[in-house]
Amino acid sequence: MNNKQIEIQDRIIVALDVDSPELAKEMVKRCESHTHYFKVGLQLFMASYFEVVDWIIDRGHKVMLDLKFFDIPETVKLAVGQLNSRGVSLATIHGNDAIIRAAMETRGDLQLLAVTVLTSFGEEDLRAMGMTQSVEDLVLFRARRALDLGCDGVVSSGLEAERLRKDLGNKLLIVTPGIRPGANVNDGNDDQKRIITAGRAIATGADHVVVGRPITRAEDPVRIIEEMQKDIVSSIGAVR
Ligand code: C5P
Repeated sequence: MNNKQIEIQDRIIVALDVDSPELAKEMVKRCESHTHYFKVGLQLFMASYFEVVDWIIDRGHKVMLDLKFFDIPETVKLAVGQLNSRGVSLATIHGNDAIIRAAMETRGDLQLLAVTVLTSFGEEDLRAMGMTQSVEDLVLFRARRALDLGCDGVVSSGLEAERLRKDLGNKLLIVTPGIRPGANVNDGNDDQKRIITAGRAIATGADHVVVGRPITRAEDPVRIIEEMQKDIVSSIGAVR
């Protein structure tokens, strides 16, 4: 497990996967008594650009901007430069050494996370893309490269968190999506494959969990957050 001291209100990053700034702000207002970290991804960014990002930061909360930049190094460098000094806490990039190196040049005080292998991918998806490594080996390989190149951390599933922590140490920030179970995502059509509970993810090494639909599609999002926070607190206690 990791030993970073992180407030319970910062452990869960709520993924604001909604299609308007109004819905996103409503969700933040419902959740902010319990959690202070929010993720803006492609859907919401396309709908509101920086409006919601700036609004969340102005309210004193943290933002993970999950646009997963993947392009030639020069383009990624300039895109990351656009985020510099905006108050965003975390941003995500994909890529090989040259792309990560380019992003590091312009990141300023922004913390960068390298996406390792999407949590919606299983072994068969890697085979279908012509990759022969196991998911776990590929996650570890990419995480090691990212850390060597100066990245602050990685996005990985909770299934790899324990090995990442053991092999790469405590400096690495591990952010874990694919958190289940939760409201309205157990209908057999869920796209996430490498799933884990919030408590288990944190107990085995993740610093933060990213949770979207289990919270945003719940009738009572705050109750789900409370349950997950209880699970996190008791899992950390069980490991100590
Ligand atoms: O609804 P759910 O909890 O599955 O949402 C997970 C969120 O985490 C989504 O916003 C998705 O884009 C994001 N994410 C992910 N896997 C990654 C990186 C980000 O699921 N590797």
